[in-house]
Amino acid sequence: MAPMSSPSPAHDIGARDEDALKELIAGELGAVRDRSFGLTTGVLTEDDLTAQVSPLMSPLVWDLAHVGNYEELWLLRAAAGREPMRPEIDHLYDAFEHPRAERPALPLLRPEEARSYIGTVRAKVLDSLASARFDTANPLMSGGFVYGMVVQHEHMHDETMLATHQLRKGAPVLLDPAAEPLQKPAEASPVDEVFIEAGPFQMGTSDDPWAYDNERPVHIVDLPAYYIDVEPVTNAAYLAFMEAGGYDDPRWWDPAGWEWRTSTGKRAPAFWSRAGGQWVRRRFGRTEPVPPGEPVQHVCWYEAAAYARWAGKRLPTEAEWEKAARWDPATQRSRRYPWGEVYEEGRANLGQRTLRPSETGSYASGASAYGVRRLLGDVWEWTSSDFHGYPGFRSFPYKEYSEVFFGPDYKVLRGGSWATHPLAIRGSFRNWDYPIRRQIFSGFRCARTPEEAR
Ligand code: AVJ
Ligand code: FE
Repeated sequence: MAPMSSPSPAHDIGARDEDALKELIAGELGAVRDRSFGLTTGVLTEDDLTAQVSPLMSPLVWDLAHVGNYEELWLLRAAAGREPMRPEIDHLYDAFEHPRAERPALPLLRPEEARSYIGTVRAKVLDSLASARFDTANPLMSGGFVYGMVVQHEHMHDETMLATHQLRKGAPVLLDPAAEPLQKPAEASPVDEVFIEAGPFQMGTSDDPWAYDNERPVHIVDLPAYYIDVEPVTNAAYLAFMEAGGYDDPRWWDPAGWEWRTSTGKRAPAFWSRAGGQWVRRRFGRTEPVPPGEPVQHVCWYEAAAYARWAGKRLPTEAEWEKAARWDPATQRSRRYPWGEVYEEGRANLGQRTLRPSETGSYASGASAYGVRRLLGDVWEWTSSDFHGYPGFRSFPYKEYSEVFFGPDYKVLRGGSWATHPLAIRGSFRNWDYPIRRQIFSGFRCARTPEEAR
């Protein structure tokens, strides 16, 4: 399968006039579709696309048709007032009508039908884009929001499809675009953690044109002082926890985490096993020694929290993560990215340019104002926080994106992974999942409360 092209994200959406924005949108729609096709073609057979590799995931052909159906719903019906193309198939691709485990039994479009359907949708979208008006009085259209939403949605499903690929058994199908890491670890940080002084910062955003409802509105959060790790927790550090008997000591685990640990019998991150006296991991169909310098990946929230407690630390709250990532104490403003307002390639391992996280010491140029590194890209980072709406939250444009997930069942993850496209991540972006999930590209970093404040 061909590697995807280099990401060219729309960092200056707000600055573009309508024609320039349309050109950008058309380009990004094309780029994300190339990515989706790249994950569903090549050596994959019709059976590979319609099979379910795990009850946690949809068949790949479901994701493929779903992104097109979502695009039809939002860009043709909602934005352009068109009639439904195939109303009889809508329910098949409504994520709330059929849970993932049920999807393989549905009369889904076959791969060829799915490609043709989403291609027809796309042709109509490009046709209607020409006459679209990005009316600032219409929140769906202002700044091309609904187009940004659809592009981000397809990128999110591409990351989901990568998780499906990671779960599938058998020979490798994905070509690693860069077999070698893109950046060699160059500059080790002189310190392991940084001190973040007590005080207020701006959390969330009210003016990022393509931000989701759950990132809004911007609001002031006043935090006590804390320390946060400069880098995500590595495989080497996590192995020390394992070798210290961390999986066998209930002191480190939440009661629900210990219940998960004992009922599942898990004693290592997902995809790890022992071979020839060492730990190896299976990664997209290949087995390799666990690289000590990469962030630990495929751990659930319970494992992350247990490691942190063993290390004498804790997970950062979502607000602590965001302050460390975005707040610039010199200007008293929050940044869009850790390093500034503008996306720049080479500052983070994003966009599926490799099929793995980078090593500690890489991407030093992506550090935040506080010197915290690799906040974006590499691995999604578990935070200690439940997923809730910010003060003043208003559901937009539909409750099923965010609001129905608010509550104690989901934990927030931040920062994106190596599989996340730059258009679908920013310092304010919020992801969420169940605390038992490990098939996502998840890791973590630790924080702690200063001794004198305890
Ligand atoms: C934001 C990643 C939790 O994949 O369930 C996809 C994104 N929403 N289709 C998910 C999403 C609708 C969502 N996450
Ligand atoms: Fe979806």
